[in-house]
Amino acid sequence: NEIQIFCPATIANVSCGFDVLGLCLESVGDEMTITKTDRMGVRITDIIGANLPLEAEKNVAGVAALSLLHHLLPNCGFDIKITKNIKAGSGIGSSAASAAGAVYGINKLLGSPLTDKELIYFAMQGEALASGSPHADNVSPALLGGFTLVRSYDPLDVIAITAPPELYVTVIHPQIELKTKDARSVLKENISLKKATIQCGNLGGLISGLYTQNYDLIGRCLHDELVEPVRSILIPKFAELKEAAKQAGALGGGISGSGPSVFALSRGETTARKAAEAFAAIMQQTSVPFEAHVSAI
Ligand code: HSE
Repeated sequence: NEIQIFCPATIANVSCGFDVLGLCLESVGDEMTITKTDRMGVRITDIIGANLPLEAEKNVAGVAALSLLHHLLPNCGFDIKITKNIKAGSGIGSSAASAAGAVYGINKLLGSPLTDKELIYFAMQGEALASGSPHADNVSPALLGGFTLVRSYDPLDVIAITAPPELYVTVIHPQIELKTKDARSVLKENISLKKATIQCGNLGGLISGLYTQNYDLIGRCLHDELVEPVRSILIPKFAELKEAAKQAGALGGGISGSGPSVFALSRGETTARKAAEAFAAIMQQTSVPFEAHVSAI
């Protein structure tokens, strides 16, 4: 009647896949304990490590859980306790971890009436509360692991892609809070055909690189024509961070989700750790505190 869950951090967009591509960090994330109770509804009983609303209707995990309960109509309720390790507004899927964890745990406690893929829609309802848009590029990898591609939002069609075995991710989180809502409001509504063409080439190439484990091809495709030029202005030392990771041997990188975190992909853990050191050396030139993570995917 009780389940303990690891709710992984995720990186959305992965440079060339705005709102459609995401990846899951194997070893960075929150923890959640969900208990099945006789009292109907959802209660957030405790949140450790963050100052977030306990009221279910105002909490990302609560909203995702309630949307699932409205669909499944079980004869019971759930208490949710959350330990947040992922900071809100960091760009590594803090809200998605909570939303995905809540629906995953409740579904398990109910004997798995839905598949993990079917849970994506309900987790998206939590994302909508957090950012004003029900994007699925964080909740999908949080629920399915590895890389995911949202092929279509309507109807929802998500493809899970296994990460190449030697691919590691490095993330640096400059500790300034950048709300997804604000980082979305600076984006342009329209893009040029020329930019769309380049973006399509890179996204197709990246997916191909993942399937064929072609690390060089993956690196060549980590380029964003659409969002990075606009958002990078909001991130301290963005260009230097990206360049430093490449100099350290990383395949490439970009903005993690809506920022301010910056990520790099590397072949092998050793290079990923070197990229983390290179990121840290750049951040040390600023007065902004930061946190770095290295993880398998
Ligand atoms: N795709 C979303 C964005 C991810 O870039 O706004 C937010 O984490």
